[in-house]
Amino acid sequence: MTSPRSETVIGNARIVLADRVIEHGWVAVTGGRIAEFGEGDAPAGSEDAAGDLIMPGLIELHTDHLEAHYQPRPKVFWDPLAAVVSYDAQLATSGITTVLDSLRVGSDEGVTDGRLAEAITAAREAGLLRSDHFLHLRCEIPMPNVLDQMHELIGRPDVRLMSLMDHTPGQRQFRDEGKLREYYRGKGGSSDAELDVMFARRTAYQKVHAADNLREIVTQAHAHEIPLASHDDTTGENVIDAIRDRVSVAEFPTTIEAARGLHEAGIGILMGAPNVVRGGSHSGNIAAVDLAREGMLDILSSDYIPSSLLMAALQLPGHVPAIDLASAVRTVTKAPAEAIGLADRGEIAAGKRADLIRVHVARDVPVVRSVWREGERVA
Ligand SMILES: [Fe+2]
Repeated sequence: MTSPRSETVIGNARIVLADRVIEHGWVAVTGGRIAEFGEGDAPAGSEDAAGDLIMPGLIELHTDHLEAHYQPRPKVFWDPLAAVVSYDAQLATSGITTVLDSLRVGSDEGVTDGRLAEAITAAREAGLLRSDHFLHLRCEIPMPNVLDQMHELIGRPDVRLMSLMDHTPGQRQFRDEGKLREYYRGKGGSSDAELDVMFARRTAYQKVHAADNLREIVTQAHAHEIPLASHDDTTGENVIDAIRDRVSVAEFPTTIEAARGLHEAGIGILMGAPNVVRGGSHSGNIAAVDLAREGMLDILSSDYIPSSLLMAALQLPGHVPAIDLASAVRTVTKAPAEAIGLADRGEIAAGKRADLIRVHVARDVPVVRSVWREGERVA
């Protein structure tokens, strides 16, 4: 039975635990933590979930969706604080209760995300945010300004992940250089001649700066005890580097060979949720579902579409019969929490944070009906 001091009891729900689903049960919350859960009818006075799913709030490690709110059109910048607040609202209503906001560190496009880091702090301090926000520093290793920008941000207490990126044309995500051309043409309408100049500059940057920058960034991350992610691993050499740099997560490996090497080394493999929903990668690399079939998909990330995270997790069992609902939900809750050392959340278990979502599914589209953060309704 539930403790009489429970502030909230949610009943008549399908409860998604880390290892199984209770088809008809309840969850009780006390002091912002999960107090108890059980099977059967909840006591009178509980909130009726009408048979909907109750699951842990989703944990998002890599989203750049803030950019869509901050720079809604090329050259148009929205007020950064207002951008953070509207972005946060979209995350919460997508079921995401913990998010690592990806900020670009190192760029030759004149864009710096320093203002956004400040806006996230300001929004948090003013109590404007529904989700719990941390930072993910996406370090573009070959860029001449990456170290300066990294040093500016790394001392902040909310930095929770740093990724080692190299988007130099002709390798990793853009091993097929034509895909990178397509990407930039779509983004800013650059001409081929302009792209030739930019690509030559990027290749030169990599030759001159990449090795030294990488060493310094890895050293700093280890010194600050910030988990590291590799990004777009493609070759056996990339895997060896990831192991050497002691990364805990590998984001978007592009080949099955790289994924296998990373998996065997015990590195968590993160793939894009949009890739699951769309049935493939926008860059033409391996499909997340193929990795899932091989038992090598550990974590999903919404990447550029917040609502894809929940959709992909719920669709995964339909694509891969060996993955049940509890396992699929783990890829967006417990697994990402563990990968970055957040031990207080990510599953419905006594003592964990009461970050919970209620999800109704109709016509194969999940709708987030309610969101609780530490037991408080935030959406
Ligand atoms: Fe990438």
